[in-house]
Amino acid sequence: MKRDWIALDQQYILPTYGRMPVVVEKAEGMYITDTDGNKYLDLFSGLAVNILGHCHPQLLKELENQSHGFGHISNFFYNKPAIDLAEKLVEETFVGKIFYANSGAESTEAAIKYVHKYGKEHDREGIVVFKNSFHGRTLGALKMTRMEKIQQDFPTLDISVYELEKEDLQQLEKLFKEKKPAALMFEPVFGSGGVQVISTEFIEGARVLCDTYNVLLCIDEIQTGVGRTGELFAYQYTNITPDILLFAKGIGGGLPLGGMLVAEKIAHYFKPGDHGTTFAPSPIASALGRKTIEIILQEGILEKVQEMEKYLKDKLKNLRQQYPKNIGDIRGKGMMIGVEILQNHEGLKDKFMKKNILVNLTSGNILRLIPALIIEKQHIDDFIDTFSEIITEG
Ligand SMILES: Cc1ncc(COP(=O)(O)O)c(C=O)c1O
Repeated sequence: MKRDWIALDQQYILPTYGRMPVVVEKAEGMYITDTDGNKYLDLFSGLAVNILGHCHPQLLKELENQSHGFGHISNFFYNKPAIDLAEKLVEETFVGKIFYANSGAESTEAAIKYVHKYGKEHDREGIVVFKNSFHGRTLGALKMTRMEKIQQDFPTLDISVYELEKEDLQQLEKLFKEKKPAALMFEPVFGSGGVQVISTEFIEGARVLCDTYNVLLCIDEIQTGVGRTGELFAYQYTNITPDILLFAKGIGGGLPLGGMLVAEKIAHYFKPGDHGTTFAPSPIASALGRKTIEIILQEGILEKVQEMEKYLKDKLKNLRQQYPKNIGDIRGKGMMIGVEILQNHEGLKDKFMKKNILVNLTSGNILRLIPALIIEKQHIDDFIDTFSEIITEG
């Protein structure tokens, strides 16, 4: 008897996600096939996780190899794949040390604790973030932990958070002077906040201010990292390096893995016992992560992402010329593109789905395209033709 997966989901799983009516049977490359045999072009790649598409053959091979070696081990032992990945990340970014976590939110939590330790030594406290920023959803699991040894004097929910309205270096300097925060944290391209690109000018200006006031610069590349924007990490478009770099999503080659890289000059704030987790770093996710980075760098994927960005933006601009009442701002970097939908955004996702394309909307009316980086021109053409059809049909 055929099982009604949607009804079973509703019966057994809490309804925290607004799901699309697609029960996935199989996924390969740029496509997802459902249990009814419908094949969809996937333009959001597991929310920016499946960097190289679904079931990449080289990653499957790596998965098999590492699974035959060892799967989970504890942090009491040295973990070769995790060391390999850390070495690769440092080689490709800046000199420093890594703490591994299992997800984006856990990476943010690690950074909050780290910043606190730094702040104590520098008589600073709290973090400046942008209005509309997104850094994760955990409430501070630590607050629920009642062991002095683990709680130490880390802040839980009462950490000070200061909001920066927009890219305003004067306001930032005023906050640094008056509030004495320990860090500035931001996404170089807002993901959930509507695909807003933070300018190089602001990032480089913020670096100068952070140095002047002894504030840590923490860049959240959980969504923008691992090649998404056409550089391995988006900060590499600028001439600065951050003090703390957060990563997750694509870094585990499709498996849960996250973490932070802290610059060598501040790499002494975590001591044994200051932070930890049972599962991270998964040796299998680490092996897949390293392989993913190697493939990105060896197969010219960053250059391809830059080429596809231009191709997609040009096509979208052409479409906007035809339909100026439907399409507004077109923005983003690499394969992280936002399209402002000026009319009928409510049903748009479903209309695309009925035409076998899976897209995602964020911040209400921003169509967010975050496909796998293996996307080809043909996929973009299919998307544009379908978009045009949907607009014409009204
Ligand atoms: C920039 C950014 N930070 C943090 C997170 C949280 O990551 P996770 O959902 O893995 O906890 C996300 C997830 O979308 C994100 O885009």
